[in-house]
Amino acid sequence: MRYREGLSDRPSYDVTERDWKIKINANECNLNLPPLVDERVMNRLSHVAFNRYPNDEAGDLCEQIARNFGCQKENVQLGNGSSEIIEKLFYAFGGEGNSIVYPWPSFSMYPNYAKAAEANGVVVNLSEDDYSLDVYEYIRAVRESNATLAVVCNPNNPTGNVMPLGDIEKIAKATADADCAFLVDEAYVEFGGESAAGLMKKYSHMIIARTFSKAYGLASARVGYMLADSAMAEMFGKTLMPYHMNVLSTVVADIVYQMRDEYRPRIDMMISERKRVYESLGKYDELKVFPSGTNFILLKYDRSVALNERLEKLGIGVRSFGKAPGLTNCLRVSMGTREENDTLLSAIDDFVKGSV
Ligand SMILES: Cc1ncc(COP(=O)(O)O)c(C=O)c1O
Repeated sequence: MRYREGLSDRPSYDVTERDWKIKINANECNLNLPPLVDERVMNRLSHVAFNRYPNDEAGDLCEQIARNFGCQKENVQLGNGSSEIIEKLFYAFGGEGNSIVYPWPSFSMYPNYAKAAEANGVVVNLSEDDYSLDVYEYIRAVRESNATLAVVCNPNNPTGNVMPLGDIEKIAKATADADCAFLVDEAYVEFGGESAAGLMKKYSHMIIARTFSKAYGLASARVGYMLADSAMAEMFGKTLMPYHMNVLSTVVADIVYQMRDEYRPRIDMMISERKRVYESLGKYDELKVFPSGTNFILLKYDRSVALNERLEKLGIGVRSFGKAPGLTNCLRVSMGTREENDTLLSAIDDFVKGSV
């Protein structure tokens, strides 16, 4: 078959999963919908006109999001997960000769989306000690590559660290001067760090991407959104198919967003579990545990591959990075329920102390 050039070089993203007893490998929420939300969702789904193309459902959700951020509906675009938002932004600012700058290690799809957009992906390596970003090196990379889009992920996946808002503003200022759009991927911001959304009034070239998949536990529905200046949001809209958001997901996200206060207790629980797991793992000299502002923790351990094999045998699925650049011997564990975390901690304890 005569496929387009470069397609065969693109990696396939394997999403098949084992049936884990404890699944803490994808930064999901391990609790399903809160009961009150579940009731309203089920009721709303029974009123969907399955025979019709989407009508104003997406507009209603955009309006609700806009109200929360004190902006207009025209500043909001929805996506099939924030994945679609990011992929389409890379497309919008990509193309031959255009450069897109992002830090590394960070969200594993950035390089793939850059490649798919036929853009030149420019990587700025994070510090090996604590995964912090050298803002000046980043800005230099933006200038030297004459980038059309600069991306940061805050808090960062898979390292978990939070970037100070002051650093984000430095990048915002420099990218404005360089006529370069600036995307802040805030997939985990509900768990820590400060949103950069407040900077958008001052810097109209900024874009914020958010998702319903993490704090709002709606990974199955695939809903994300972006906030941007209305002209940029309009340009972005040109990359989308007509009716790209299905009604089922959109109305569910609409209810979840209306009832987001119902999620506060579980978000607080995830944050306190993160603190507890961080402190428990911090007791071992053999482990380096990185501070996190997310719903997961990254740890580094000489015997990470063997530990991962042991956890797999116990039916505990975590994310192991093996020899991945910048992440050698790192494991990323998402926060589960308290009981799940206890099981994980006890399995790690047995392994590190050498009793298994
Ligand atoms: C940093 C970051 N951005 C974006 C996404 C995409 O999430 P979704 O497409 O589910 O909204 C993820 C998913 O893990 C992520 O970690």
